[in-house]
Amino acid sequence: MTLYAEPLQRLEGVPAPAKLNLFLHVTGRRADGYHLLQSVFMLIDWMDVLDFELRPDGRISREDNVPGLPAEDLSVRAARALQEATGCTLGVHIRLDKRIPAEAGMGGGSSDAATCLLALNRLWGLRLTRSELCRIGLRLGADVPFFLCGHNAWVEGVGEQLTLVSLPSARFVVVKPPTGASTPAIFNSPELQRNTKTAILQGFAANTNAERLNSDARIACDLQRILDFGHNDLQPVAQTLCPDVVRCLDWLSSRGLHGRMTGSGTAVFAQLPQGTDLSGAPADWTVRECSNMDAHPLLDWCPG
Ligand code: C5P
Repeated sequence: MTLYAEPLQRLEGVPAPAKLNLFLHVTGRRADGYHLLQSVFMLIDWMDVLDFELRPDGRISREDNVPGLPAEDLSVRAARALQEATGCTLGVHIRLDKRIPAEAGMGGGSSDAATCLLALNRLWGLRLTRSELCRIGLRLGADVPFFLCGHNAWVEGVGEQLTLVSLPSARFVVVKPPTGASTPAIFNSPELQRNTKTAILQGFAANTNAERLNSDARIACDLQRILDFGHNDLQPVAQTLCPDVVRCLDWLSSRGLHGRMTGSGTAVFAQLPQGTDLSGAPADWTVRECSNMDAHPLLDWCPG
């Protein structure tokens, strides 16, 4: 094992943000069954929080605040994958404070995995590059490379082809019913529409370059045009498997909001005009206001 920096003893309060899919089009299916997608993935300020403590004995352990979370969740698998890829003999104890709802389509598990890769790369002094972490991350889940890329992204392939974009700041409301839906069940449904025509990112570029940051080559996009253009191909299948999705969308409509499901659900979201009344939702739903983020909070943790 080659360590390129002194290992750290601990990293505390490390964030793992959620995402929303502004739209999600299924444009085909690969021979291995994975689906080809087009989507815009957007980071939001709703986060899990993780602590990492070095274990010199090489073991990987985890505690969390979620009853019934499998012991081998994505954060533990990420740590093992990083050990295997680098031959690192150091271990870690992970404390996971889960705040992002599970089975929501908000990428909570994938984001935890990405944050583990970024944090352990530091804790263990490995100095892997972002693209090396992305290769490890993709094997853990199709959404993981997005959470490693540092910005909002136009996403293609099965989730690994990323073009960085910038979006104007905006407020959203996310509504999550207590019921979840299985991602594989939705993707494998015979009812799933798999041939949505591919779109071209340049069609969503903002008219003005004023929002484009001087220092990077991200394409500034028009949020409204993206929302108006797209849909979520997984939504009709999820609505059949989980009627609560329809109830949440109807509830948003009754407040004058046009909602859409994110990922494979069951959370739905809508852009939120100021002053919208969000009272009166059933007590067992989660209703939360959030903002989009321009960059991942750990953007500077990894060299390109
Ligand atoms: O990659 P991840 O573990 O998040 O995917 C969960 C499941 O969703 C996969 O097993 C697969 O059935 C489906 N999936 C897919 N195409 C994608 C992403 C996920 O078919 N691009």
